[in-house]
Amino acid sequence: IGSFTRSPEGYLCCDGVRVQDAMEAVERRPFYLYSKAQITRNFEAYREALEGLSSIVGYAVKANNNLKILEHLRELGCGAVLVSANELRLALRAGFDPTRCVFNGNGKLVEDLVLAAKEGVFVNIDSEFDLENIVTAARVVGKKIRVLLRINPDVDPQVHPYVATGNKNSKFGIRNEKLQWFLDTIKSYPNELKLVGAHCHLGSTITKVDIFRDAAILMVNYIDEIRSQGFEVEFLNIGGGLGIDYYHAGAILPTPLDLINTVRELVHSRDLNLIIEPGRSLIANTCCFVNRVTGVKTNGTKNFVVIDGSMAELIRPSLYGAYQHIELVSPPSPDAKISTFDVVGPVCESADFLGKDRELHTPAKLGLISLLHYANRTWKSQGAGLVVHDAGAYCMSMASTYNLKMRPPEYWSEYYLLKINSENKIKQFNQVQQMI
Ligand code: LLP
Repeated sequence: IGSFTRSPEGYLCCDGVRVQDAMEAVERRPFYLYSKAQITRNFEAYREALEGLSSIVGYAVKANNNLKILEHLRELGCGAVLVSANELRLALRAGFDPTRCVFNGNGKLVEDLVLAAKEGVFVNIDSEFDLENIVTAARVVGKKIRVLLRINPDVDPQVHPYVATGNKNSKFGIRNEKLQWFLDTIKSYPNELKLVGAHCHLGSTITKVDIFRDAAILMVNYIDEIRSQGFEVEFLNIGGGLGIDYYHAGAILPTPLDLINTVRELVHSRDLNLIIEPGRSLIANTCCFVNRVTGVKTNGTKNFVVIDGSMAELIRPSLYGAYQHIELVSPPSPDAKISTFDVVGPVCESADFLGKDRELHTPAKLGLISLLHYANRTWKSQGAGLVVHDAGAYCMSMASTYNLKMRPPEYWSEYYLLKINSENKIKQFNQVQQMI
């Protein structure tokens, strides 16, 4: 069961809390509204899928770095996958065990690697210069670093080019023709480096598990080769990347179980520990971005609904042309018909849209002028709510202050609404309502 459902009267709810009521209770809009229960369910899906395998679920912190969410995922049993020293610092603050964390990246700084080395984090080797920096950090700290080789397997993830990372011309990882150089060089640093595994990350929003299988086959072959040269490789890290159902159109997409089942035998056959690095599939569907309608206008052949949120708070549609499902919070009126709108924000550029050509319910029997009039009169005066779904991953963590907009507050619902990104003020949902 998803956490964002309609009440019998047709109001959108998050774990039983009406989004409309939440909108009245919070002091600043737009805002992010998370379901803690859905985060737990998403993690449980991985835990169940991984039964019988020795594994680490390393949550990709870049997807969402809210401290409360990190603490929750850590309590559930996650490790963390990091791409900067600040992400590592935050993960430590959230209580993650650093020996179950992985430090990734194609441009890691020596000072960041020093922190990782001190804490005993796994480090991925991405390039020749990265290897040099890792050796330097190990010497500074006086500790051997457990490293994995990030291999670029040249598998096409069939996703938007901006989120494809494992094809041969990508900036990430090392190609097979250089493997021998890396193995020889690692061997020459026995006091600095301990090669414990191989890593790959193909890309993000992947919706076919065969892609993971193709990569895993290549990876275990690499591991066979590496082992044959005397390295005690224990870990296969297959990265993150599993997509989710952004379209809400009934598509059946692979689950964590489907993903793990495609690689399970390979992992067993080589007696490996599996590391996976999910971000989106743990957190994306646990949140919606809640907006108010500011007004409705038309230009040329277009109807626009203007909301208070924008590309500043949620940039995925502008940046990748990504689709995120959009709905009005209230139920349609009995005489509703459907009209088509571009859903746009107030930011001063035409890249500022949350959705194009979206169908929203408006009253029947009204022509366009009346629609405008009606929509402005009702939506605007009531401050109608409009949500962008699946906003848990790469939305708040990519939010900016463009046009000097404020970064939005974040709440999650338990039995009450809890603000989770400011000074730990716990507000009982009902109390907040009474205050208003
Ligand atoms: N591991 C590595 C090495 C990664 O680079 C990433 C994501 C992940 C794990 C997590 O992947 P996930 O399970 O979330 O797909 N901003 C883009 C997504 C960029 C993903 C970058 N790397 C978006 O909004 O779609």
